[in-house]
Amino acid sequence: MNKIYTYILILLSPFLSAEDSIFSAAEIKRIKSMSPLPEIPLDPTNKIDGNKKAIQLGEAFFNDWRFSRGEEFACATCHRETDHFTTSRTDTDVEIPTLYNMAYNKWFFWDGRSDTLWSQTLGPIEAGIEHNFSRTEVAFLMHSDIEYKPAYEKFFGPVPDFSDPDRFPQPAKPSSDDVEANRNWQSMTKEDQFLVNEVFANVGKIFAAYQAQLVSPKTTFDVYVEGIKENNQEKLSAISDSAKRGLKVFVGKGQCITCHSGPNFSDNSFHDMRLPKFTEKKGIPGARAVGIGKVKDSIFSANGPFSDSPRSKHLDELSIQAGDEFKIKTPTLRFITATPPFMHTGQFRFLTDVVDFYSEMKGARAPVDGISPEMTPRNFTAQEKKDLLEFLKCISERP
Ligand code: HEC
Ligand code: HEC
Repeated sequence: MNKIYTYILILLSPFLSAEDSIFSAAEIKRIKSMSPLPEIPLDPTNKIDGNKKAIQLGEAFFNDWRFSRGEEFACATCHRETDHFTTSRTDTDVEIPTLYNMAYNKWFFWDGRSDTLWSQTLGPIEAGIEHNFSRTEVAFLMHSDIEYKPAYEKFFGPVPDFSDPDRFPQPAKPSSDDVEANRNWQSMTKEDQFLVNEVFANVGKIFAAYQAQLVSPKTTFDVYVEGIKENNQEKLSAISDSAKRGLKVFVGKGQCITCHSGPNFSDNSFHDMRLPKFTEKKGIPGARAVGIGKVKDSIFSANGPFSDSPRSKHLDELSIQAGDEFKIKTPTLRFITATPPFMHTGQFRFLTDVVDFYSEMKGARAPVDGISPEMTPRNFTAQEKKDLLEFLKCISERP
């Protein structure tokens, strides 16, 4: 029986998919693994993830300037919806990543120094160059705002009374560069610090509920993959021949898919791209090596007291390896043409610069001693480069 089926399949194969002439069976399998984005997974460490009311409240927080010193910043200042939840600014240490598809990530920030979306959020709220706010101020806002207080309490129960400035001074946070806020924090009792930390973490969970919903729109590439799966001629013509050749380079000779894998084009891991030295922006000294130390030390980690599912062992297994000091998280490539400049340093202004670098690796840093480098020159032809760029367009445009 099986033999007959195989025979019929072989006979029918020219009709099953017109793409068989371009791609091998192995390549078709890889291409199918790149689309569509699955349903948004729920984060077990955040018990309100996916809750409609929490998503709405999170959106209000995301756009509210009052979570910053002098009401100077909202998250939306840097992560603008109209700019695919990023924007280009010169005053940040590193490029601002898009917030598309955060729910599919395992690690957050370029160096992965957070292991949940809600704990990530607490970073920019207190960071000196971002919101420059503090956790006692966040706690007080939840206690004093007539709209936020009842909304918060629906999820997490009563907000403690944070109005006594002797017990809960403002600003107060553990900080190495804000002396006053750090002194205030150290003056508080352990019990009061815990009350503040708990509300702070919960506020992060509300922000995260909204951010987890931000998924990149469907692209012409997704239509094309539907075409392969359904053998639908119209859908198969959603992308150009040049883009199809570029896709072949992406999953073949270029080996882009080894790191930019799956529907979100990321393996959720960290790699040393051996980028040429670039001084205009500071970058992240220590990269993943420092990120690992920070996530292990954080009381807001997925294993910590504020996690709603603190059983995960992922941090115990984590240890710093040689070369980690240069490793950066693989970012998504969805809507990549719309979000220049490129790399965490922003050192490439155009996508052609990125592709040229991957091809020739001009100026690349020498590999770390004793480790065989993951990134080696791909030596693309001029045509392959052009095709690859055409492919990157198809994962950046709506049908
Ligand atoms: C001043 C600009 C600025 C503001 C304001 C800002 N961010 Fe960011 N955001 C950045 C930069 C820069 C990074 C990358 C930092 C890094 O990785 O070290 C980032 C990273 C992130 C990430 C991680 C993305 C990834 O790929 O891992 C998330 C999530 C995020 N921000 C959410 C927020 C939220 C929520 C707020 C508001 C509370 C906010 N940001 C406010 C600039 C900003
Ligand atoms: C060894 C893993 C690896 C391989 C292979 C790889 N990439 Fe990347 N890619 C990364 C990492 C990690 C970054 C982020 C580096 C940084 O910001 O310093 C990145 C960044 C990028 C960016 C910029 C993203 C942004 O948001 O700025 C583009 C575009 C890109 N890669 C395309 C490709 C293409 C095309 C190929 C195949 C020719 C490829 N990559 C191969 C890991 C990889």
